[in-house]
Amino acid sequence: MDRYAVIGNPIAHSKSPSIHAAFARQTGEVLEYAACLAPLDGFVASVLAFRSEGGRGMNVTVPFKLEAFALANRHSPRAKAAGAVNTLAFRGDEIFGDNTDGAGLVRDLTHNLGVGLRGQRVLLLGAGGAARGVILPLMAEGPAALTIANRGVDKARGLCEQFEPAAGETRLAAAALADLSGPGYDIIINATAASLANEAPAVPTEVYSNCALAYDMMYARGETAFMRAARAGGARRCADGLGMLVEQAAESFLLWRGIRPRTTEILAELRRQMSSG
Ligand code: ATR
Repeated sequence: MDRYAVIGNPIAHSKSPSIHAAFARQTGEVLEYAACLAPLDGFVASVLAFRSEGGRGMNVTVPFKLEAFALANRHSPRAKAAGAVNTLAFRGDEIFGDNTDGAGLVRDLTHNLGVGLRGQRVLLLGAGGAARGVILPLMAEGPAALTIANRGVDKARGLCEQFEPAAGETRLAAAALADLSGPGYDIIINATAASLANEAPAVPTEVYSNCALAYDMMYARGETAFMRAARAGGARRCADGLGMLVEQAAESFLLWRGIRPRTTEILAELRRQMSSG
């Protein structure tokens, strides 16, 4: 049987095994998908052991996405732009590295939430790996403007410089979180790690005023701190990143198996399971 796994540390609470098992049942693909806990200093050895036991591919999660990029010997353009890899495919001697996070975000926004990006003024909060991974796929949708804001503005400026050549019609700008003013944004996406500490990024509340969608790339059982702050600041709609999780998984499944699973029922089922505890 073809074997896949998600690798990370910690990994026990990963939803990827149940998502991929559901994809396999739905599409009739015969495969096994496990969770693999790698020691913090043992990522490469764990991947190579899994491959030598016949593994066909892996999803990579915190904190190994940069090491996965370094390990891959061929990369998709979107993985190159992200500088990080969340999907590995083993093909003979080749270790192919892809990054499906940005595509997952865009698909959740456009397909599941029905929010188009063309012509929109988008604000991306954060300038770490999570932010970098979604910039190229976001710009490919043709927003009018993309402002990257971070506590330290230099990191945001660095991303603007990196992505300027690919910006096309999109106006790229950098800002410090504290210097943001609003209203003026249609879609606000939280890619900071603040939600991990159950905090909202410190932005002036008027930034959220009247925005059509405030989207947290993290997810939680209830609203995240960012979603609460955005709602209090006047965001018309809020969403968490559970849909992005399912969509990035679907994109990985497509890469491995050549079939895109339907995600609607699986996302609804996950949401039900989360709200019932
Ligand atoms: P990730 O891969 O999750 O993006 P990272 O590369 O360590 O992780 O980046 C974390 C991001 O979250 C950074 O943009 C960080 O901002 P700084 O560069 O200013 O540190 C941001 N971040 C983390 N905690 C935050 C908080 N409490 N409020 C606002 N931004 C935060």
